Amino acid sequence: MGPTKATIFALAAAAFFAAVTVHPAIAEDVTVPQEMKDAYQRPDHIPFPEENPYSPQKVALGKLLYFDTRLSGSNMLACSSCHNPGYGWQDGLPKGVGHEMAELPRRTPTILNGAWGSIFFWDGRAGTLEEQALGPITAEKEMNQDLDQLVDELEAIQGYRARFGEAFPGQGITPDTIVQAIATYERTVIASRAPFDDWIDGDEEAIPDSAKRGFVVFNTKARCNLCHSGWNFSDDSFHDIGLADEDPGRGKFLPDIPTMQHAFKTPGLRDLARRAPFMHDGSLLTLDEVVTHYESGGIQRPSLSPEMQPLRLTAAERDDLMAFLGTLTGDLAPVVLPVLPR
Ligand code: HEC
Ligand code: HEC
Repeated sequence: MGPTKATIFALAAAAFFAAVTVHPAIAEDVTVPQEMKDAYQRPDHIPFPEENPYSPQKVALGKLLYFDTRLSGSNMLACSSCHNPGYGWQDGLPKGVGHEMAELPRRTPTILNGAWGSIFFWDGRAGTLEEQALGPITAEKEMNQDLDQLVDELEAIQGYRARFGEAFPGQGITPDTIVQAIATYERTVIASRAPFDDWIDGDEEAIPDSAKRGFVVFNTKARCNLCHSGWNFSDDSFHDIGLADEDPGRGKFLPDIPTMQHAFKTPGLRDLARRAPFMHDGSLLTLDEVVTHYESGGIQRPSLSPEMQPLRLTAAERDDLMAFLGTLTGDLAPVVLPVLPR
């Protein structure tokens, strides 16, 4: 008896799938220069400044303060209201929303990997995390809190008196010790390991070949690494990438430097999947829109960074770049909310 239609189909299908599955084995391995990978190695320790060294007591106290709405004038907003772990330590909004629902002029950035930062805010107006933390507490549109009153309020809470005593023996509750504790806690907030890190450490199976090719595109033809460099993917510097917005950014402090007008701090690219919408003005909703923006080269104006040039990516290169960006998000590390002192 000859083969039935069904067996002929099955044989054809088997041959087809065999051809498909054989393909990756004969495809050339993606080779990526080791020097290119070395530039993205995760650090093995957190840098704490000499002026405010690490102690577990400070971290625990800083965490309480970070999640405590009593730090705000209305007792309704904490740092975590805007820098929320579930949204990549942002808030998922195009612009921050503060005291009495006031819309802030810019998007809430992530606090992830702040320990490695050397300058803070989109426009670089704070030099340290300690200096930064005072900003939101006292800003009228953010937490709207009077500092002397805050010290009094915290003094009245027995649990805080004890904890400040342990973390800062002989110093007690002052604006300085409040921000030192918060900054020390913030330095422990680090992007969790992503598939990308496992690949950098030598596990070739950790990310797909398309992402490996995308990593090369990121570092060559797409020019992203000129600003998004190092393991946190930021040069901690300021650039105008040509977004349509009147905000002078860094230019407010450096009015005479043409390239600092409309220039903002390069954000890191860790945990991107949880951090939309993007940019200082929250104007780009998806990573796809971000890449389209870079392909266009941005608005031509005297301040536009010379590194910004229209990209001519092929459809395959673009897909690879997107696949690579997808490997930078690690599992959501559970954050155990602290029980606040009374
Ligand atoms: C009402 C929302 C809101 C609250 C509350 C808030 N922030 Fe922010 N935070 C923002 C916005 C918006 C920015 C960006 C402002 C800018 O750059 O002009 C910012 C910037 C920052 C930055 C700079 C990040 C970087 O990479 O430059 C850090 C760190 C930070 N906030 C920590 C804190 C801490 C600590 C608290 C609590 C004491 C706090 N924030 C409270 C909205 C908020
Ligand atoms: C000239 C320096 C420069 C280059 C080149 C560059 N970026 Fe950026 N990138 C920035 C700056 C600065 C911002 C923030 C701009 C703003 O908000 O005004 C940014 C923002 C982003 C964001 C949004 C992050 C967030 O938290 O909002 C992503 C994603 C991003 N860039 C990816 C890329 C990719 C992918 C490439 C390559 C195609 C690239 N960048 C090339 C400087 C650069």
